[in-house]
Amino acid sequence: MPVAVFELPDGAEQVLDVPDDWSLMEAARRDGLEGIIAECGGGAICGTCHVQIGADWYARLDAPGMAEEALLEVVPERCATSRLSCQVIMTPALDGIRVRVPATQLEL
Ligand code: FES
Repeated sequence: MPVAVFELPDGAEQVLDVPDDWSLMEAARRDGLEGIIAECGGGAICGTCHVQIGADWYARLDAPGMAEEALLEVVPERCATSRLSCQVIMTPALDGIRVRVPATQLEL
């Protein structure tokens, strides 16, 4: 099964199994990963599942949609490789993807 490596704000790393066609957010919530709130459950309307994608991996992702882009405008700690983890869907090509969980998520 593909895996994703989540770097937590304290520098610790957690490797999660992510089935194909699952979002990174779904795997994070399944395993109770701290820092991924995902208030809307994957609807791309809350912005509380923000992650920073490793630069090497970012270019392999489909471009974010308009709703995601709008939310990324307002998330804390936005960077050039920011994405909503509910919109990053695992594929075999993304096996080993590295993402950083920001210390702060959007407050609703
Ligand atoms: S879970 Fe709400 S935007 Fe991703």
